[in-house]
Amino acid sequence: MRIATLTIEHLDEMVAIDRICFGQHWTIDAYRRELNSSNSHFIGWFNSEGLLVGMGCFWAIVDEAHITLLAVHPHHRRQGGGQKILRGLLEQAVKIEMRHSTLEVRGSNSAAIQLYEKMGFENLGWRTKYYQNPEEDAVVMWLTGLQHPDFWLKIG
Ligand SMILES: CC(C)(COP(=O)(O)OP(=O)(O)OC[C@H]1O[C@@H](n2cnc3c(N)ncnc32)[C@H](O)[C@@H]1OP(=O)(O)O)[C@@H](O)C(=O)NCCC(=O)NCCS
Repeated sequence: MRIATLTIEHLDEMVAIDRICFGQHWTIDAYRRELNSSNSHFIGWFNSEGLLVGMGCFWAIVDEAHITLLAVHPHHRRQGGGQKILRGLLEQAVKIEMRHSTLEVRGSNSAAIQLYEKMGFENLGWRTKYYQNPEEDAVVMWLTGLQHPDFWLKIG
């Protein structure tokens, strides 16, 4: 299993993971746009046969890495992949001098919330009715100190 940057050549596999994990988080055109945007950073998790089984993305906004996507194929969950992808995103964020990371997550998504908490994210507050289909509030999570010399010690 390996972690690597995703490029346009992975587009079809990314859309397939998206449809399995979310129904449709982004359209194929949105993925294409994101892959071509210099503000978007993608990380993929590949199995031993080189197939994409998980992916994540953040937007670099000033000094903030806004995590916009994190998904692992259902057959490959609870194997540490989500954590590896998130770590890969944070490594890239540190490299390009981001100082904070933030994200929104459905209030009922306890798997994701526990993963983010494990990686040091804290609950900053709520955005009411942020999600549709079904309507739900979002938890806003926040991680700071990305440029601190002890950052990786804190993350573990
Ligand atoms: C959230 C998601 C990415 C986690 O991926 P994963 O590869 O299964 O996660 P990991 O194996 O790296 O788990 C790391 C930690 O997260 C937490 N976690 C992950 N899945 C969990 C679950 N089902 N229940 C409780 N905690 C869970 C645990 O703390 C786990 O550590 P542990 O295995 O030592 O207990 C995956 O469940 C997923 O793709 N869900 C659907 C898409 C989604 O909701 N994305 C997030 C949108 S904000």
